[in-house]
Amino acid sequence: ANGRPQISASFRDVAIDGAQSEDGAPEQGGSTVSITVVGASGDLAKKKIFPALFALYYEDCLPEHFTVFGYARSKMSDEELRNMISLTLTCRIDQRENCSDKMEQFLKRCFYQSGQYNSEEGFSELDRKLKEKENGYDCEAHANTYHQAGKVPNRLFYLSIPPNIFVDVVRSASRTASSQDGWTRFIVEKPFGRDSESSGELTRNLKKYLAEEQIFRIDHYLGKELVENLSVLRFSNLVFEPLWSRNYIRNVQLIFSEDFGTEGRGGYFDNYGIIRDIMQNHLLQILALFAMETPVSLDAEDIRNEKVKVLRSMRQLRLEDVVVGQYKGHSKGGKTYPAYVDDPTVPSGSITPTFAAAALFIDNARWDGVPFLMKAGKALHTRRAEIRVQFRRVPGNLYGRRRRSVGGGGTTATRELEKATNELVLRVQPDEAIYLKINSKVPGLGMRLDSSDLNLLYSERYPAEIPDAYERLLLDAIEGERRLFIRSDELDAAWAIFTPVLADLEANKVAPELYPYGSRGPVGAHYLAANHNVRWG
Ligand code: NDP
Ligand code: BG6
Repeated sequence: ANGRPQISASFRDVAIDGAQSEDGAPEQGGSTVSITVVGASGDLAKKKIFPALFALYYEDCLPEHFTVFGYARSKMSDEELRNMISLTLTCRIDQRENCSDKMEQFLKRCFYQSGQYNSEEGFSELDRKLKEKENGYDCEAHANTYHQAGKVPNRLFYLSIPPNIFVDVVRSASRTASSQDGWTRFIVEKPFGRDSESSGELTRNLKKYLAEEQIFRIDHYLGKELVENLSVLRFSNLVFEPLWSRNYIRNVQLIFSEDFGTEGRGGYFDNYGIIRDIMQNHLLQILALFAMETPVSLDAEDIRNEKVKVLRSMRQLRLEDVVVGQYKGHSKGGKTYPAYVDDPTVPSGSITPTFAAAALFIDNARWDGVPFLMKAGKALHTRRAEIRVQFRRVPGNLYGRRRRSVGGGGTTATRELEKATNELVLRVQPDEAIYLKINSKVPGLGMRLDSSDLNLLYSERYPAEIPDAYERLLLDAIEGERRLFIRSDELDAAWAIFTPVLADLEANKVAPELYPYGSRGPVGAHYLAANHNVRWG
């Protein structure tokens, strides 16, 4: 429907065709899927996960026989869960006439089980209820559309909980609520540790109970449309891939900025900071996709092998290649914006960075010497996420800086001819776009160059609304498609780049440069870029 992939659409068939999935179970077709959102009472579940599940249902992308369960400690009835979820559901793709019917049908498939996270009792009770649904005992609730007895039961758990209880949940749920005949998969939310050591420990603990194939480490930036398109752009257009190296690219910038602070999440954030929250995962994942070699195929392992290779070729980040900042309070137009440390959940005197800029390098033949500059910050002047590729200058001096006489009849003037270097921009959000800055002649009798854009603005070219990243990733997890999830060796390689500098920043108690809420961030970021001969785009 609506141009969105159906559960058996062609690309996805690759993952779901055949009798067996990699985690050992027969796949859809004769199967049921139960999706349990652990931490169902929380912010992410309400804001993203339930709405994404509904959007998938609305677009006919979920398997026919599915059930959604919420699990958390809060006491709630099925009805109360449905009321809570219904507040965040929207028919955002289009306002079809049957929207409210669809919502009602979806909510009938949602159930709740309250329990402790480290309690096998709680998950045993969940298991009992899951079996009831899987065996189709509860036909009444499903208006006779739910006859799945005898089908293979598959189970997906989404860990939407604080990281300190990931292992408790996996231990209890894997022991008591795993599917006996079908697959059992766990989507794990970030953060995956705070450094190499804690991340390694988390991986080891998860692997006591789960095979790597069962673990779907989510980085929602990999589910964003423009990030998905990065590989298509590179590998399916002759005009880009030949230029994709140190021979033609001067620098690459990965920019993330938000125009709001840590509002409501200061408690979590203070323990992590912007480098762990955004750079080590979201921006580094984009960088890996940007810089990897051509994979052997689009198979998840082939792509992830290439990402690991490029991450392992990266230099450890050094203190001198990092600038950190923290937002301070600011008044503008009669409005007062709080400082980071004004957040009541942030310890007073915190030096946790809410902004960072860094220069990274990939020591391989393709990228030797090319700075990859990252910049990420909260409470800045704008919200945007972009990849900017600045190309080298055109060799020779045909249109270089020189003066030339134009005009005639006594009015001769001199005009400066200039040329800018090309820049390719992938705007991940908002207003998704890909544009290439080129030099072009300004029409007229003179010879003046202008920098113009070849612009692919998604809202004009593709008017249909773009699915949320969580929709794509949930659907992939249901279908066993691992391409957009992080493998444990990728994670190790990613932490190896950032762990030493995080330790140095903390050991040396490096004070962040303060910047006003709503500003462009610390001036130190410009000096850092200038050290590498770069101007931020
Ligand atoms: P919440 O803080 O809202 O926690 C989710 C649920 O977990 C709560 O409703 C609560 O349920 C339970 N919980 C909270 N604190 C504790 C605790 N100390 N011990 C035991 N249970 C607790 O988290 P979010 O929903 O914001 O995030 C969930 C996960 O997703 C986290 O790992 C987070 O890092 C990650 N994430 C969140 C994003 C967001 O925008 N919120 C974005 C990206 C990742 P109850 O009390 O009912 O058991
Ligand atoms: C999360 C971070 O991973 O990504 C948040 O923890 C951040 O701090 C969020 O706000 C940004 O995601 P998006 O999709 O809104 O850009």
